[in-house]
Amino acid sequence: MQPQNMKAWAHFFLTYKFALDEVETKLNILNEEFHFLHDYNPIEHVKTRIKSPESVLAKLQRKGLDMTMEHAKSHIRDIAGIRVICSFSTDIYAIYDMISSHDDVRVVEVKDYVKHPKPNGYQSLHLIAEIPVFLTDRIESVLVEIQIRTIAMDFWASLEHKIYYKFNESVPSHISQQLKETADIISSLDARMLTLNEEVKNHKLIST
Ligand code: GTP
Ligand code: MG
Repeated sequence: MQPQNMKAWAHFFLTYKFALDEVETKLNILNEEFHFLHDYNPIEHVKTRIKSPESVLAKLQRKGLDMTMEHAKSHIRDIAGIRVICSFSTDIYAIYDMISSHDDVRVVEVKDYVKHPKPNGYQSLHLIAEIPVFLTDRIESVLVEIQIRTIAMDFWASLEHKIYYKFNESVPSHISQQLKETADIISSLDARMLTLNEEVKNHKLIST
């Protein structure tokens, strides 16, 4: 690759970093104000990642597309990724409602694997959002993939991810069966934690 081209690609990836910085700031503000008003944080933590140039290239190749910035921008919607880990399942939708109501956030796709888990048991709310990034000479619209899930859902997803790669993407059926069972336990655990939290909140209201 020519040095000039390298600089252009570095600039391209930088815009995704800026988009992540903006979304992360938005989430921090929401979390802090929410805490001020309701005395608790709906967000446990946030993780961001930028897809490596190698992974972007590999994904374009899988799609049968040339490695151009135009193709990467329009066909790869997860170059910038942000994962929001919440305390309770209701927080997932609270965060979704707050972030999608911002005038400068345009939600272009929603996949609700919380209401409709994947057959393997995977649960998470996925959004693709378009964010304006204010550069020195223009405004660039950048896509960001936002995954929102509970701590329990995240625990399951990280283990499932490791198992999937350990078995080279073809997990034996008795293992996937057990993974599905653990996903069901995760769902009922989240539901119980929510009920428990409601009880605690009511208890606090009565005693104050
Ligand atoms: P990709 O092209 O792989 O990004 O997937 P997609 O376009 O079909 O999008 P989808 O919203 O289904 O998944 C996007 C991302 O969600 C993945 O890159 C993973 O980070 C996560 N994900 C989706 N399915 C699973 C799953 O079954 N297990 C785990 N651990 N993560 C998943
Ligand atoms: Mg992906």
